[in-house]
Amino acid sequence: MKSKILGMGHYVPEKVFTNDDMAKMFDTSDEWIQKRTGIKERRFVTESGVGASDLAVPAVKMACENADTDVSDIDAIIFATLSPDHIFPGSGCFLNQKLGLPGVPALDIRNQCSGFLYGLQIADAWIQAGMYKRVALVGAERHSAGLDFSDAGRDVAVLFGDGAAAAIVGPGDGTDTGSGVIDIEVHADGEGAKLLWIESPTCTEWEWLDQSMIDRRATYPAMNGKQVFRWATSKMPEALRSVLARNGYTIDDLDLLVPHQANRRINEFVAQKLQIDPNKVVHNIQKYGNTTAASIPLALSEAIQEGRAKEGDLVAFAAFGAGFTWGAGLYRI
Ligand code: ACO
Repeated sequence: MKSKILGMGHYVPEKVFTNDDMAKMFDTSDEWIQKRTGIKERRFVTESGVGASDLAVPAVKMACENADTDVSDIDAIIFATLSPDHIFPGSGCFLNQKLGLPGVPALDIRNQCSGFLYGLQIADAWIQAGMYKRVALVGAERHSAGLDFSDAGRDVAVLFGDGAAAAIVGPGDGTDTGSGVIDIEVHADGEGAKLLWIESPTCTEWEWLDQSMIDRRATYPAMNGKQVFRWATSKMPEALRSVLARNGYTIDDLDLLVPHQANRRINEFVAQKLQIDPNKVVHNIQKYGNTTAASIPLALSEAIQEGRAKEGDLVAFAAFGAGFTWGAGLYRI
């Protein structure tokens, strides 16, 4: 049986950091950030002791409310994040405890900006196999804890924001035409692994964290922005074309494209390449920056809440991120 998203939810921290706030910390400007990325502001957690699993709690509760489901009905958790609370155990275990779900399995996945698509593919397969009935698929990030707020890290620090979103995935209505997942494809190419990564702490050395790693700022994310841009604008359209063709649809059949929010310029480039009506493309990067695994579900949750994604709509998802990983999906609302 096809799976469907029974309800979506999202949560972002209250504290807004504008581009001007970023310019107080290092050498940048509102003009540079907006022109290159489309970002105006992002949300950051400012309290200590708050991790991705904490941001996920209200997102899951909202998703359950929208799904008309009790939190206690959740029978599996998939937690997508690149900024886990701790190196181990996975944030899914912390979330399991915070939701009061002892015994419910919790799987962490590490697919960065493509995490929601990888997770939805797994949830869909579990539901189709009859293994679970209410999967909480979560994307949550607390990037603010790991960004280099100095001139050296300004290319990356301006891009990211904190946030969480969740989908409760369950069985569809049993028809081929009803609401639900139509198809998802995901990919990876480790050739790009070091083009967007955090080198340390690393379990490839005798000490996973030493002073030299800190001194050369290897503990902060590093990115080859031009390569990421080039790959993203090639792989997202490729995956979208592939998933549409395999299912007998064309670009014109799409009602909405909900892409990963890495950079507004990337998404405008992808839309132009595919000749998608710009009005059909969802952008919220101006408000939240890049929230990585939370980005697609956050944009979808808002689009549903605002009535922009309506019952019967054909929605496409597209993602590209560290790994490199990428993918595309088709979904009937
Ligand atoms: N503020 C001001 N100036 C900056 C900043 C900043 N925050 N960051 C870099 N610069 C400077 C650089 O130092 C450089 O200065 P120089 O010419 O004196 O050497 C100048 O701006 C141009 O730098 P470039 O790196 O060439 O800038 P570019 O036009 O490539 O834009 C950007 C950088 C926005 C990162 C771009 O490469 C890009 O969009 N890449 C895609 C990466 C992306 O979106 N990543 C998101 C995370 S991954 C994901 O989710 C897919």
